[in-house]
Amino acid sequence: MAARKRGPKSPQTISNQETSQPLPSPSSSLSTQDPLIEPSKLPQILSVSAIFFSGFFYLLFYHYEIESELKRSIVFNFFFSIFGFVFTIILIPVATKYLLRRNLFGYDINKKGTPQGAIKVPESLGIVVGIVFLVFTILFQYCNFTSDSKWLVQYNAGLASICFMTLLGFVDDVLDVPWRVKLLLPSIATLPLIMAYAGGTTIIIPKPLIPFVGLPDLDLGKMYHLYMFLLAVFCTNSINIHAGLNGLEAGQTAVISCAVLIHNIMQIGSSTDSEYKQTHAFSIYLIQPLLTTTLALLSFNWYPSSVFVGDTFTYFAGMALAVAGTLGHFSETLMIFFAPQILNFLTSVPQLFGFIDCPRHRLPRFDPQTGLLTGTKDGTLVNIFLRCFGRCSEKSLCLRLLAFQALCCIICFILRYILTGWYK
Ligand code: UD1
Ligand code: MG
Repeated sequence: MAARKRGPKSPQTISNQETSQPLPSPSSSLSTQDPLIEPSKLPQILSVSAIFFSGFFYLLFYHYEIESELKRSIVFNFFFSIFGFVFTIILIPVATKYLLRRNLFGYDINKKGTPQGAIKVPESLGIVVGIVFLVFTILFQYCNFTSDSKWLVQYNAGLASICFMTLLGFVDDVLDVPWRVKLLLPSIATLPLIMAYAGGTTIIIPKPLIPFVGLPDLDLGKMYHLYMFLLAVFCTNSINIHAGLNGLEAGQTAVISCAVLIHNIMQIGSSTDSEYKQTHAFSIYLIQPLLTTTLALLSFNWYPSSVFVGDTFTYFAGMALAVAGTLGHFSETLMIFFAPQILNFLTSVPQLFGFIDCPRHRLPRFDPQTGLLTGTKDGTLVNIFLRCFGRCSEKSLCLRLLAFQALCCIICFILRYILTGWYK
């Protein structure tokens, strides 16, 4: 179980180890005490959300001329998402009691040697986010789509894949699947999406490549299904391995979701093709609830975390983004939003494929005296940032990584602006 897999073996093996023993702590009484579960960062999360959604609704209502029916659906979906936020905030403290009772907890590795490092932090709170997300996206479907809507099949297939992924993520958290097997879990969860996919399989060839291909577009047929499969496997695993700092997993999901929402609204606003607009609206219907439920989780998971998100959340979030990207037909753009995850994957390749030893946790070294993290040789972006920009606290490191994520999203928007007309 999670508790067995996550504690350190002894105070000497503080980093990168797994164990069956609880941590011998400086104040051992703390190891048995129930942690305080509260959304301590709720005011900050609400302020940031208010700023983001003000910008989003400015684009929706004033900047672009969007037909009122589409606007109504997006606003409707927003209200569902707000309920999702509230329910997640309410349910997380309830769920933690049950998770702790079943010994689903982890120790905060980046606080080892301090009293905080000895507290049992409830794990797998992604299960609450996943369930609330699914409930509200399913309810929204009932209110928004007519029973003969051609979008329903894809919408349901997408939701089935997200649901399947959440289940497998939870299985992983409970059973602690060997991590190479973890790589396979998302491939199983993509089955509903791929089997039911009836959308287009044609890709538009970038203009500079048309002379080489000889065609303006290319029907990939079954190869498109392989592409969807690879995208989902990548998105889920790449979020899961860019992790291990308080707030990083939920934070990166929130930043990417914001970028996806802005991208979708820009595409809807600048297009006259109703099919194209529907495709992007479809993506908004999935990403708005993903963002709000993730923000609710982040208010508990931000430094110092009172809950861990677990593989349940990393897989769920990766799959939700992959589904929105494939069914919304903007996977290229999504991949630029995922630039930090791609970088983290590339620098991880030698360890992931066994060329170099890969410890159970590839996290920095924590110094309890100074409270600072030092980068190890492990090939993760977390360690690379510490090696390049020097030692810092866990919170600063998470903020730097999220700022880098946001920067990549901004660069993506600039690139799209510059390349429009030349590239596609
Ligand atoms: C992936 C990474 C691993 C990283 C881990 C952190 C690879 C191949 N695997 O493994 O290097 O250490 O994610 O999630 O790159 N934890 C913290 N602080 C946090 C979040 C998690 O200390 O803010 C620790 C806790 O002990 C928690 C555990 O990480 O129990 C969760 O690890 P898990 O998600 O099971 O690791 P993997 O996904 O297998
Ligand atoms: Mg994980």
